Amino acid sequence: MTMQPWFADAKLGIFVHWGIYAVDGVPESWSFYSGDLTRDAYMKQLDGFTASRYRPDEWAGLFARAGARYAVLTTKHHDGVALWDTDRTELSVATRSPAGRDLVGPFAEALRRHGLRVGLYYSHSDWSHPDYPTARPSSLHRPWVDNRFAMPAPGAERPDRWEHYLTHVHRGQIRELLSRYRPDLLWFDGAWERDEHQWRMKELREEILRLRPRTVLNGRMLGHGDYATPELGVPIVPPEGPWELCYTIGDAWGHQPRDTAHKSVAELVRVFTETIGHGGNLLLNTGPRQDGTIVPEHAERLEGLGRWIHRNREAVHGTVRGLPYGHHYGPSTLSTDRRTLYLVCFDPPSRFVELRGLHNAVRKVSVLGTGEELGHRVVGGFPSRRVPGGVRVDAPTLCDPDATVLALELDGEIELYRGHGAG
Ligand code: GLC
Repeated sequence: MTMQPWFADAKLGIFVHWGIYAVDGVPESWSFYSGDLTRDAYMKQLDGFTASRYRPDEWAGLFARAGARYAVLTTKHHDGVALWDTDRTELSVATRSPAGRDLVGPFAEALRRHGLRVGLYYSHSDWSHPDYPTARPSSLHRPWVDNRFAMPAPGAERPDRWEHYLTHVHRGQIRELLSRYRPDLLWFDGAWERDEHQWRMKELREEILRLRPRTVLNGRMLGHGDYATPELGVPIVPPEGPWELCYTIGDAWGHQPRDTAHKSVAELVRVFTETIGHGGNLLLNTGPRQDGTIVPEHAERLEGLGRWIHRNREAVHGTVRGLPYGHHYGPSTLSTDRRTLYLVCFDPPSRFVELRGLHNAVRKVSVLGTGEELGHRVVGGFPSRRVPGGVRVDAPTLCDPDATVLALELDGEIELYRGHGAG
């Protein structure tokens, strides 16, 4: 599998969890699955979903200013409510809510007008469709999945109805999304309730790529996707291949008025640089209100992150995975020609910044954003045994409030010392 180059260099995407759950501000889908709410009470939110101030061009403009290169919209979450006028089920905001129209098409068009790639989230599982809870996987790895919205009782399986769900609803809706909106990326979720064979995932991948060969597929396809999707926490051992961390600005995915623990711009810059420094993209989530507006606290964070990315763009785009842990106390990235190393310093360094295990000579150090040139010297090392000393860079006079980036121009392609030390 070769990854589409746009995805590898995108670095930031915006995840949009938008659905009827924003009406009462309850957790998306899970609130009725877990019994906190009856399904009727949950679906009653359809009556309050208006999209009355939905301006996808404003979203796309904001996402572009945030520094994102793509965005992913929840076209159908596990609740089964489609945001487009699907022909395959009765349940869409186009036919059942005051919004009364397709919301996915305008999203895709607005993103394209702003030069962003289009990602569509689609939940394999559908906790509303009567034909969905008709098959059980051969073993239930997660006991909590034995839920009436997801599973039939043992012995009550209906293979014919499962087949109907799979071919008519699941495949049918995915085909609708592909042909109507021509997404660059399909972001699947909710595969855990069936096994790979029940979903016929291999065939799904083949079919999508036959219809639209360049579609990027996220990893929630039980082994048949293109990249890993860690969720909510920066991986300590970064995945080796391509990956993307999905992450919330507050605590919730969808809009919830009581979700006020918004991360600061500085915190988001940390997560962003930790992610890109280890080869991932950050998919940062916002949950618009039912009317289609984005809460100002989220918009401010996105603008702030965008300003940081703009000031430090040289360390973001056109870079690859930086140093493994141990060389520098913080994340780093490398220019694609591997001759410039970007060191991210979260707090203003008071004395010096030390980089260990570098064989190269450093030609020049400068601070991104201000252009200040910094002095450096090499301390220690065991040259006759090829153990490099530490490169000590003077502290900058002026630091970025959210994270300062030092650009180190090397005398050639980077060469790291990865040994245990001589002695
Ligand atoms: C989980 C949840 C879901 C959320 C998703 C985002 O799988 O089921 O509510 O949409 O993660 O990654």
